[in-house]
Amino acid sequence: DLFSQTEDRPAALAALKAELARRNDLPPWTGAATQMVFGEGPPGAPLLFVGEQPGDEEDIAGRPFVGPAGRLFDRAAVEAGIDRPATYVTNAVKHFKFKPTGRRRLHQSPDAGDIAYYRPFLKREIEIVAPQLVVSLGATALRALTGKPLAITKVRGELIETPDGLRVFPTVHPSYLLRLPDPESKEREYARFVADLKAAKREVS
Ligand code: URA
Repeated sequence: DLFSQTEDRPAALAALKAELARRNDLPPWTGAATQMVFGEGPPGAPLLFVGEQPGDEEDIAGRPFVGPAGRLFDRAAVEAGIDRPATYVTNAVKHFKFKPTGRRRLHQSPDAGDIAYYRPFLKREIEIVAPQLVVSLGATALRALTGKPLAITKVRGELIETPDGLRVFPTVHPSYLLRLPDPESKEREYARFVADLKAAKREVS
């Protein structure tokens, strides 16, 4: 129950992680992943970040946001004055979904069914961590948190209160910045991302 969860949050998180790992109704594609990648960070962290799903490097490391998008996220967080180890970082979907090609494993976006499958686990994970603010990185995270397909461009930087009573601050996913073709828009969008992270930080201090 919630009381015992708040009494011993690390144990509650470990139990939730174990529960998800031994589910026998996981989406079939998860069988191709190396491992489940659960959230990481101190329970009680004021800021909780939600990404989409582990990527190739996260799947191998078993830790969220350690690949290219994670390194960009780390850099932006430092610039925004956010100490990543003091925050909690997780994903809406907790296995790497990919298409095996010749030598690379090609990221595949989770579909609505995948998001819905992990949603109760994400919700419980957030309840246990009990952050002051949830920052959603990209459309998948926002959908997982609100239950609705909202356009990031319309709601970016606006605080949203979900029916579950969560305060959600939407911004873009760092991999969006990596995909931008020209250096100018990359620079501009990166600065905007840092500004969003600063705004999110102000909401909790
Ligand atoms: N992208 C995500 O959304 N999450 C990760 O953990 C890594 C890349």
